[in-house]
Amino acid sequence: MKQFLNERLPLDGMMSHLRKPLPKHINLLFSLGSLAMFLLLLQAATGAFLALSYSPSPEHAHNAVQYISNEVPFGKFVRGLHHWGASAMVIIVFLHLLRVVLYGSYKKPRELTWVVGVFLLLVVLGFGFTGYLLPWDEKAYWATVVGVEIASTAPVLGEFVAKVLRGGSEIGAVTLSRFYALHTIWLPWLAFGLVGVHLFLVRYYGSSGTTKNTPEDMKTGKPFFPDQVFEDVVGMLILFVILACAALFVPVPLEDVADPTNADYDPRPEWYFLFLFQLLKYFQGPFEILGTFIIPTVGMLLLLFLPFLDRKEREVLWKRPVALTVTSVCVIGIVGLTILGASSPKLETQDTTPTENETQQVTPQETPTETDEEEDVFDFQLTEDELE
Ligand code: HEM
Repeated sequence: MKQFLNERLPLDGMMSHLRKPLPKHINLLFSLGSLAMFLLLLQAATGAFLALSYSPSPEHAHNAVQYISNEVPFGKFVRGLHHWGASAMVIIVFLHLLRVVLYGSYKKPRELTWVVGVFLLLVVLGFGFTGYLLPWDEKAYWATVVGVEIASTAPVLGEFVAKVLRGGSEIGAVTLSRFYALHTIWLPWLAFGLVGVHLFLVRYYGSSGTTKNTPEDMKTGKPFFPDQVFEDVVGMLILFVILACAALFVPVPLEDVADPTNADYDPRPEWYFLFLFQLLKYFQGPFEILGTFIIPTVGMLLLLFLPFLDRKEREVLWKRPVALTVTSVCVIGIVGLTILGASSPKLETQDTTPTENETQQVTPQETPTETDEEEDVFDFQLTEDELE
C-alpha cells in the first residue's frame, strides 16, 4: 500500500517537509493557532449537524431549536458544543492574537499573515453576530435590533448596510434568512479561504519562534511532526473535554419566542460584544457616533495596520514600553468594559412602551418602524449606580 501511494504521490517529500525542525523555545502559547483551527472545524461539524433540524423562519426557528434540545438524539449535547465552542473560539483567537503581539511575531516579513488574521478575527465576530439571531428568542431578536441599528449609524454606507442585513426596513423573516445564509454559507467559505491563506503564509515564512532565538536556534528546535503535532493534539483533546463538560452540565439558554412588541425588553448582546455595548452608554446625543462608529472603526484600523505602524526591532512585549502600555490599556479597557456591561443593571430606556392601540397594530412578525427603533434602542441612560 505504502509503495502504491509512494509511486503516485510525493509522500516522502511531504513527510520530510513536515519533519522540518521548528525554532527552539516554542512553548504552549504557540499551540493557540492550532486550537483556533480545531474550534473552527468543531463549529463547522456541530453546525452541520444542527442545520439538519433547524428551519430559518420566524414561525419555526424557535420550535426547531427546542426540538433539537429536547427531541433530537444528542441534540442538546451538540447544541451545547456549538454554543460554548463559539465563546471558546473568541477567547482562543483573542489569546492567539495576544501571543503574536507578545513576541512581536507580526513584524517583517509576517505583516500579511497578521492582516489576514485580523480579517479572520472579524469573520469570527461575524459568526457570533449572525448566529445569535438564529434561535429567534427575545434576546436574539433585541440584540440584533441593537446591532443593526449600530451598523446604521456609520456615515455614508451605514443605512445601506443595515438595510442589506435586515433585507428591508424591519427585522423579520428576510433578516433571519439572510443571517442564516451568512452564518452557514458566506462566512464559512470566507473563513476557510482565509485560514488557507493564513496557514500558507505561516508555513511559507516558518514560525517566528520567541525573541531569544539566535539564527542558529531558528533551525534546531523540535520537528513539527510528530513533536509539535502531538502537543497540539493533546491541547485539542483537553479543550474538547472542557467543552464537552460545559455542553453536558451547563444549559444553553433559550428565552421565550421573539416578541417585537415587547419594548420593555432589556437588549443585551453576546458577552464578547458587551464591551462595545457598554461603550455606547458613555456617548449620548451628538457624541453617539463616537461609541457606535468612530472608536470601533479607528481601533480596528489601528489593529489592521499595526505591523506597518510599529516598525521597531522585534523584541518581547515587556521590553517595548510603548507597545506594552498600549496593549495593557486595550486589554484592561476591553475586559473592564465587558465586566461593567455584564454586571450593569437593566438599561433604563425612555418610556417607549407602545400604547394599547400601537400594540394591537403590531403583529409578532412585524417590527416597530425604523424611527421607533432608533428611539427605543439608543436612548440609553447610565443608571444612578453607574453615574456614581
Ligand atoms: C480563525 C482564526 C485563526 C486561526 C485558525 C489561526 C491559525 C494560526 C496557526 C495554526 C498559526 C501557526 C501556529 C501559531 O503560531 O500559533 C498561526 C500563526 C499566526 N497567526 Fe493566526 N489564526 C487565526 C487568527 C489570527 C489572528 C486574529 C491574528 C492576528 C490579528 C493572527 C496572526 C497570526 C500570525 C502573525 C501568525 C504567525 C506567528 C509566528 O510565525 O510566530 N491569527 N495562526
